[in-house]
Amino acid sequence: MLPIAVLASGSGTNLQALIDSAASDVDFGAEIVVVITDRPDSQALQRAANAGIATEVVTFDEHGNRDAFTKALCDAAEDHGAQVLVLAGFMRILAPDAVERFPNRILNIHPSLLPSFPGVDAVEQALNHGAKVTGVTVHFVDEQVDHGPIIAQEPVPILGEDTAESLHERIQQQEHRLYPEVVKALARHRLEVTGRSVEWR
Ligand code: GRF
Repeated sequence: MLPIAVLASGSGTNLQALIDSAASDVDFGAEIVVVITDRPDSQALQRAANAGIATEVVTFDEHGNRDAFTKALCDAAEDHGAQVLVLAGFMRILAPDAVERFPNRILNIHPSLLPSFPGVDAVEQALNHGAKVTGVTVHFVDEQVDHGPIIAQEPVPILGEDTAESLHERIQQQEHRLYPEVVKALARHRLEVTGRSVEWR
């Protein structure tokens, strides 16, 4: 079993999809050993508790700068034996040190087809741009924001009547299917990374 830490700041629906897959798919190959949040009010804490998973709260304010915050997060993950960090709506940028400690071992999910619409408000950015298609990207994290090697993408059409809310809802449906699939592939050693290219074996 690949021990993973899930880092989440918000509602934690992607965390829930991972919890559900780990529980229902005997071949999943990964175990969530800890859920870490930077927000004490994150719903991720309740979801983890319901599933009997350990939790840690590491706030930015108690550490005061990105380097110390990142170190505390990585230490917490390692203390629980995690070998991989899975960012699931984690709203803080990690210092490059995290990538050094977990090279090609940090995953992120982003609600657009990168490299279009990186950063915050990706769903609003796509709508405001008048794009016809957006989607979901799962990628390894490198030193730059929303930039590392792309593992999987799923397009989502933008409809004329879409609001940011309705579009995000359809994007999330794809996220909840795609993220567990990628974590499973990683756990089962199916992902081969060469430079920016990720090959599924
Ligand atoms: C997702 O849309 C993800 O792509 C983005 O943040 C959102 C998190 O949603 N990075 P949730 O907390 O998993 O519900």
